[in-house]
Amino acid sequence: MRFVVANWKMNFLSDQARDFCEAFLADYTASPSVTTAIAPPFHLIRPVADSFRSRQVRVFGQNGHADPKGAFTGEISMAQLQDVGCSGVILGHSERRQLFGETDEALAAKVKAARDWNLLPLLCVGETLEERQRGQTLDVLDRQLSILARTGPTPLWVAYEPVWAIGTGLRAEVAQIREAHAFIQAKLRTLMAPNIGPVPVLYGGSVTPENFPELLDIPEVAGGLVGGASLDPAKFATLVKQAG
Ligand code: PGA
Repeated sequence: MRFVVANWKMNFLSDQARDFCEAFLADYTASPSVTTAIAPPFHLIRPVADSFRSRQVRVFGQNGHADPKGAFTGEISMAQLQDVGCSGVILGHSERRQLFGETDEALAAKVKAARDWNLLPLLCVGETLEERQRGQTLDVLDRQLSILARTGPTPLWVAYEPVWAIGTGLRAEVAQIREAHAFIQAKLRTLMAPNIGPVPVLYGGSVTPENFPELLDIPEVAGGLVGGASLDPAKFATLVKQAG
């Protein structure tokens, strides 16, 4: 099974999302060997979930709060994400970590909350350019994954997204991706109960239809988490086809 996940970030108004769904669905055929998901901004979750309901495209949140409800102005809970049609949630994206101060501590609670509300967490991990240059990549991945020791065994997907490759057009080299993914898989084996099964590890960072086939040839790569290229319905449909 391969996985292709669109992260729309803070893009699209309602009519743009409607146009995307129409164009994408015209080009898309569900395949038993590909799991496709789209993470729209909050105001579009319900309409996107409605468009894809019978077409086997999952809808994810881009973030969620650990508490089910309460006085947290501007936040959305896992219960609320589930209520509007999400079946998963992206957690720990580097933009959340860097721009909104999301900590590993907070992420441990969010992963637990996602599990409690039957949302599949897609946990993002990855090093900054300075961390890579200082030779700290594997230490960073180790620290970011260690939160799973506190959450208990939980089904999840992981995305390896080197921060320097996100939105920059600079894709990581095959050897860098292989090293990181092998490390992540080994760490996950020490953290996860055997009954959880294999955890898919996706690659993210400047994925495009031009480079995706090469990425999919890497045995450790289970699919892609895609930002920029996922905003174009033809490109996103191509990525899904390439994974099939
Ligand atoms: P990008 O974003 O594909 O635009 O690099 C990936 C991501 O942020 O998940």
